[in-house]
Amino acid sequence: MSTPTSTSNASVELRTERLLLRPLRDDDAPALLAIFSDPETMRYWSAPPWTTIGQAHAMIERDRPAMAAGEHLRLGIEKTDDGTLIGLCTLFHLNAACRRAEVGYVLARSAWGHGHMNEALRALLRHGFTAMNLNRVEADIDPRNRGSAASLERLGFTREGHLRERWIVGDEVSDSWLYGLLRREWDARQDLQR
Ligand SMILES: CC(C)(COP(=O)(O)OP(=O)(O)OC[C@H]1O[C@@H](n2cnc3c(N)ncnc32)[C@H](O)[C@@H]1OP(=O)(O)O)[C@@H](O)C(=O)NCCC(=O)NCCS
Repeated sequence: MSTPTSTSNASVELRTERLLLRPLRDDDAPALLAIFSDPETMRYWSAPPWTTIGQAHAMIERDRPAMAAGEHLRLGIEKTDDGTLIGLCTLFHLNAACRRAEVGYVLARSAWGHGHMNEALRALLRHGFTAMNLNRVEADIDPRNRGSAASLERLGFTREGHLRERWIVGDEVSDSWLYGLLRREWDARQDLQR
């Protein structure tokens, strides 16, 4: 169960060399639908591809109270050169007592292969381990999702376990690899702090 931090995340903004990470806005709906309706991008996601703009509006509307209550931190990933929304990164399943959270992330297919998620997640993890005082961040991915595994391993995550038949999405049953990154491991990776 999530145990909100009770600190509002409604105005969190993180800047990196090429990106602005910021809360979702109403006018993000078309870009979100483009990302979440793409079958290739959604191949290993925990839900089927979206089919309507209403699903994008529903995510944006759900986020407003959840971000204000500190239930999760979901940030849109905007390219600063042209203002395009290219993805999302999220810290969710927050457990305040154990100071842990789960990380989730998605990029538009056209933005893969440029290190944008690496840049975004370094900023999100820095915020998680400092401002949010987390001790552990974990991730649950489909073992076939090699791009996602590579992204986590580049950030210093350790593969900790293989859980069988953990997900059923549509008709497909799939396993999980669980990854974890501890604050002390993050602190030791000065190369990722830049
Ligand atoms: C998972 C996902 C975000 C990875 O995207 P990505 O672009 O590979 O992510 P990264 O930011 O880690 O980029 C690394 C790639 O960019 C390249 N790159 C280019 N410039 C770079 C830079 N400045 N810094 C780092 N990497 C750079 C790397 O070489 C690497 O390419 P490679 O995989 O061919 O070796 C993307 O595949 C995705 O959105 N998938 C669908 C959603 C999904 O499955 N999410 C995870 C669910 S658990």
